[in-house]
Amino acid sequence: MTTQTIANSVDAPVRRVFLPFNRPDIGQAEIDEVVDTLRSGWITTGPKTKEFERRFAKYIGARHAIAVNSCTGGLHIALAAAGIGPGDEVIVPTMTFCATANVVVHLGATPVIVDVKPDTLNVDPQHLEAVITPRTKALIPVHLYGHPCDMGRIGEITKSHRLLVVEDAAHAADAEWQDQRIGTLSPATVFSFYATKNITTAEGGMITTEDDKYAEEMRIWALHGISHDAWKRYSAEGSWYYEVAVPGFKYNLTDLQSALGLHQLTRLKMMTQRRTELAARYHAGLYDCPEIELPTIRSSIRHAWHLYAIRLRLERLKINRAEFIECLKSEGIGTSVHFIPLHRQPYYQDRFGFKPSDFPVADAAYERLISLPLYTRMTERDVDDVVEAVRRTVQRNRR
Ligand SMILES: Cc1ncc(COP(=O)(O)O)c(C=O)c1O
Repeated sequence: MTTQTIANSVDAPVRRVFLPFNRPDIGQAEIDEVVDTLRSGWITTGPKTKEFERRFAKYIGARHAIAVNSCTGGLHIALAAAGIGPGDEVIVPTMTFCATANVVVHLGATPVIVDVKPDTLNVDPQHLEAVITPRTKALIPVHLYGHPCDMGRIGEITKSHRLLVVEDAAHAADAEWQDQRIGTLSPATVFSFYATKNITTAEGGMITTEDDKYAEEMRIWALHGISHDAWKRYSAEGSWYYEVAVPGFKYNLTDLQSALGLHQLTRLKMMTQRRTELAARYHAGLYDCPEIELPTIRSSIRHAWHLYAIRLRLERLKINRAEFIECLKSEGIGTSVHFIPLHRQPYYQDRFGFKPSDFPVADAAYERLISLPLYTRMTERDVDDVVEAVRRTVQRNRR
């Protein structure tokens, strides 16, 4: 490693000014709307959140949108409102952020972890039938990196076993599966507006659903379990009286955050377009590099391009993934890894006794994954710098 690092630092780095892995794209309209909210006298959940919900539902084409303070919170209440609890099992792919499975544990239910498909690293429908038991109640498919899961096959299996589907669409705002928007396909879909996501409210999330009753129940779970429109109780049309129907959570999105969301949403289409262009530029810059495997792209879906995750062909390289990341860093390029699979996390290993060989596809992919920077504020030049840094690192370290 030392020689590699020295080799990489002999020449001037590709970038003198470090290219961070991610930067949010906040415009003047967002800033003005936040200031307007601060001056309005209503800073927590109120009219701007209602408007954000209305516009988000319209954009997605969903009947209801329920704003929450994170995708994690949204997943939690989507399961809670459906009655998931102790004794129940919920299927979750191993290649995801820990939140997808943590919420199942919070409810006293058991996450049943399954392996993923070699191409997209999305949940592999082939493994579903094998793990379904009479206790299985739900599946959380994750549209990893913004590439939609195989919702056709997932729909067939979950319908025949009467399983609830709660989609983790943290990466998939604006994605489509066979011309259908993600957010319109399942009983509940949960989006993330975390700082790095395709649209951001700093922290935040949204649940979409077609089901009136489920929507009402999720709203109740999101705000202390208080029945109907508790957020209004301090306004002119509100009332001091409230009833607690269930022991709910405090997962509401504030108007300060929705102020950001309203303008981010207006730009979502353009931002997806920009991400798609940048991804295509990466593709054009790296497709002929045999040491690098590029992300899968299918014509039947619209990719949201939340992340651009390459896989190293380690058998062709003298360095491992961690060393490759250090080389890119010394070239002035920030990267990340998505994700350390659940079966490699100490809590899940200790509790369920997982071994890497239980999840051969995800485990082998994990060793090779690197997420390159991909965000709307990047220029073509930024992408070209990343490509050059990757190619340089490959060239110096190929077998
Ligand atoms: C796949 C996935 N699911 C859920 C989450 C949780 O999102 P949030 O931070 O909005 O709770 C993330 C966040 O990175 C994620 O990547």
